[in-house]
Amino acid sequence: MKKILIANWKMKLFEKQSLDLTKKIKKKKFSKIEIVLAPSFPYLSAVKKLLAKTTIKLAAQNSAAQTLGALTGEVAAEMIKDIGCSYAIVGHSERRQNLFETDQLINEKIKRLFEQKITPILCVGETLEQKKNGRRNQVLVQQLKNCLSKIAVLEKENLVLAYEPVWAIGSGNVVDVAELEAVWGILKHAISMLVSENYFENNVRFIYGGSVDEKNIEQFSALPFVHGFLVGGASLSADKFLTMAEILNRS
Ligand code: 13P
Repeated sequence: MKKILIANWKMKLFEKQSLDLTKKIKKKKFSKIEIVLAPSFPYLSAVKKLLAKTTIKLAAQNSAAQTLGALTGEVAAEMIKDIGCSYAIVGHSERRQNLFETDQLINEKIKRLFEQKITPILCVGETLEQKKNGRRNQVLVQQLKNCLSKIAVLEKENLVLAYEPVWAIGSGNVVDVAELEAVWGILKHAISMLVSENYFENNVRFIYGGSVDEKNIEQFSALPFVHGFLVGGASLSADKFLTMAEILNRS
């Protein structure tokens, strides 16, 4: 599986800004990595049109836990598929914290995504308080187990597993390499117990997110166990994002 660089534009760009950024990003080609853009829902189709004839993939920033039906304001995995998304972000800490999303809800979202053959980008991460209290490992394993529990098809599907420590998001602080390796080991073990080590090796891309930018990416992109990045702030600048893509592409 190729390494993956995902731009999560969050709730920050209007249509024109999303399209301008897409046009700039698609000018450069990267043969060794996969580039994924996650615009806001209203602009997914417009961005998708610009991505025709490119290898850049589209991601939704969320997906409903329910199938098509009477649920005002939600967007079903069927619709996300229909628009042409290959991925959907689930379990982002901003939704866990501000919208009180639970592991159980995220688990249902993942099931709906697999039904539509959309690859989930599952985010897990501890808060600063949990980290300070020495609870990081426990929190991460619990999130992972709950979010992936009772998914019969899991072993046949691919997963992007994003470690996004809450304290690192938008803070300018990144995880240090030793910590990241420890987290990778813990999540690898948890997934190996849940499915198999083979599954982790062949179907899971372990990526990092939290204040990654064009200046600090290199220390992580060189690590053999890091398969890419989920980028917020730095993905809003074409120059920064493309520099990151270049660095990852040659790593
Ligand atoms: P920042 O890169 O702005 O820290 O955001 C990370 C993130 O939340 C990506 O999903």
